[in-house]
Amino acid sequence: MVLILEANALTKSYGDTHALAGVDLTIQAGEAVAIMGASGSGKTTLLHVLAGILAPDGGSVTLHATQPPLVISELGDAARSQLRREAFGFVFQQGLLIPELTAVENVALPLMLNGVPRAEAEQRAAAWLGALGLGGMEQRRIGQLSGGQAQRVAVARAQVIEPAVVFADEPTGALDSATSSDVMDALLGTTSARGRTLVVVTHDEGIAARCGRIVRLRDGRVVETRSKVADMEYIEGETR
Ligand SMILES: Nc1ncnc2c1ncn2[C@@H]1O[C@H](COP(=O)(O)OP(=O)(O)O)[C@@H](O)[C@H]1O
Ligand SMILES: [Mg+2]
Repeated sequence: MVLILEANALTKSYGDTHALAGVDLTIQAGEAVAIMGASGSGKTTLLHVLAGILAPDGGSVTLHATQPPLVISELGDAARSQLRREAFGFVFQQGLLIPELTAVENVALPLMLNGVPRAEAEQRAAAWLGALGLGGMEQRRIGQLSGGQAQRVAVARAQVIEPAVVFADEPTGALDSATSSDVMDALLGTTSARGRTLVVVTHDEGIAARCGRIVRLRDGRVVETRSKVADMEYIEGETR
């Protein structure tokens, strides 16, 4: 196993609320990790700190995808934005796609922000849309797609830069269960199935059960970690 992301003793407070109260987590390359827990347990805060969207108050986050490893939690705002653009993909419940742009333009955007010329960016974007079953829909605006199709565009957008880690926060939260399953197929098929890493926050036990590991939070702490050892079987405890 190859370590890719490591969090040590993470703390983050909002006033008197300890959103993260000392979280340790190690994630291996190619893993799909589900983060679960009640509303308010700190899932989104953890995801944002792991992805360098938020700086923790204490503790550290280290990305082992580079040599030497990069301590994300020590970077300034500009370096963290650059890292997010170049190394991470994001899928949220909704809201990241730009409604005025077509599907292919939305997917091409992260590449163009990294300096890839438009024609090449759109070509690579179209290939990802095709891989996710959206061939022929390149020129549609987001409002002309179903919820599940739009989320697959969001998955394509997250993958187009070939990120080291994809972070998803309730990616199926607004979808029915059949559509959720399709979106999860898209997420897993483009990440752990290809040796890439996925960290997904979800409320849905069925979605979580498709991941190799489930980490449960309560009041900003990890209260349970279960790893899949066979198709239907989990063992408790951190795998290092
Ligand atoms: N920007 C913020 N300002 C104040 N409190 C916040 C903020 N973000 C999160 N919190 C609080 O931190 C706790 C954890 O929130 P969050 O990480 O969003 O949990 P979850 O994603 O599990 O629902 C909650 O009590 C929430 O109200
Ligand atoms: Mg949340």
